[in-house]
Amino acid sequence: MISRRTLLSGLGAASVMSQFPVRAWATIPSKPLQMPPLVDATSSGQFTLTAQAGETDFPGHAASRTWGFDQPFLGPTVRLNHAGDTAVAVHNTLDEAISVHWHGLVVPGDVDGGPHQLVDPGQTWSPVLPIDQPPATVWYHSHTHGKTAQQVHMGLAGVLHLTDGQDDARGLPTTYGTDDLTLVLQDRRFDQDGRMSYRVTMHDQMMGFLGDTMVVNGQVGATAIVPKGVVRLRLLNGSNARIYTLALSDGRPMHLIGTDTGLLDAPIALETLSLAPGERYEVLVDFGDGKDISLLSGQNVNEGMMGGMMGRRSPSGPPFEVLPFVIDPAAPARITRVPEALGGSRPNMDASSAARRRITLDMAMGPGMMMRRAEDRFSINGQAFDMSKINFKTQVGQVEKWRVSANMMMHPFHVHGVMFQVLSENGRPPRPQNTGWKDTILIDGEAEILMRFDRPASEALPYMFHCHILEHEDGGMMGQFTVSG
Ligand code: C2O
Ligand code: CU
Ligand code: CU
Repeated sequence: MISRRTLLSGLGAASVMSQFPVRAWATIPSKPLQMPPLVDATSSGQFTLTAQAGETDFPGHAASRTWGFDQPFLGPTVRLNHAGDTAVAVHNTLDEAISVHWHGLVVPGDVDGGPHQLVDPGQTWSPVLPIDQPPATVWYHSHTHGKTAQQVHMGLAGVLHLTDGQDDARGLPTTYGTDDLTLVLQDRRFDQDGRMSYRVTMHDQMMGFLGDTMVVNGQVGATAIVPKGVVRLRLLNGSNARIYTLALSDGRPMHLIGTDTGLLDAPIALETLSLAPGERYEVLVDFGDGKDISLLSGQNVNEGMMGGMMGRRSPSGPPFEVLPFVIDPAAPARITRVPEALGGSRPNMDASSAARRRITLDMAMGPGMMMRRAEDRFSINGQAFDMSKINFKTQVGQVEKWRVSANMMMHPFHVHGVMFQVLSENGRPPRPQNTGWKDTILIDGEAEILMRFDRPASEALPYMFHCHILEHEDGGMMGQFTVSG
């Protein structure tokens, strides 16, 4: 057992243990971080997920009611072929309807698992996913309209690795849980009795629900044990609303190798990386010097919102610890240098024939907000989400350029059924972390994105586009579209 105290010494512990998490785990002995169980579906071409209720003992807290797939909290990591059909069976043993959306899979609307595709209690949903896209880290989560935030908070989420089996040849770490770590970052709130709780106030709905305790892969206060070499971190922000600004405690670079839906052509060394709800980034960290360090995050950027309206964007407060790393000198360090080429690509689409669309993410503010029904407090282009209304129609093969703008807050904007290129952010070239293929982008002001629709979606089972702050999505900041073809 490693005590948190020794981990934090030499890190400027005082400045790291900030108001978040407010419940510091300083007295709890740290356990090694566990990966989600790995299900390899690459040879069978099939897997099942059983949504179930359970109980989770978060260290330092009371036993909490949680939900998961095949386990009490969260779901397994499923490894899938990046091309070919995969057959899924989703069983729902919960007592309410759920749905399972494959966030980042570019699959037709009729198997996308959106809010029109509910799996009732006791029922099984069996889609066949015709996957055909570059290798990437994507994820799955419930998408039940009006309940997405609560169901994901309870634990209905997990990770998918899309693979082509070539990562060894690329010189990338591939040993699950040793030098290839899947990290689901979430924050949770615990009530006076120490139980995980989701009670949403008006303020929570406006800001998005923020926790007071960091949870990684469903664990509180765990430490990642890593070899003395290059380690791959597949980062997923599975939080309802928190936006992380990640950095390593000694300032060493994170080598960005993959964005939401694909590998880059070459790594980009970054000192900080922002990670908004729904986004995934893959980075390599070189632990070759054998030093123990920590992954830190700045405070939630939207907490500067009120300041933002007055021209100040930076949230106050020192960084907090997301995950400490401890070197195990006995662990095999298979990769010792960051590869120069990754064999992925950066999008460079032809925008000349693109149809244009404007998307504004709106929120009602102040007393006006309180007077609206909970489902109508947020909207896109002035319209709150309506299950029975298709917001626009497009066709297979169509290229579209969307100018997406947000006021007052930053909103992570996600589109189903496509991957997109970021053309600009606030009139400038995209930040380096947004130069790869994306399906979710943090809108801080305005961004232009370019995409081509390759998969169909019908009026009965349309694609969604929405803010990935789940309280905003449930509150109406979502729309739907069809792709005919
Ligand atoms: Cu990750 Cu429509 O969601
Ligand atoms: Cu999605
Ligand atoms: Cu939002």
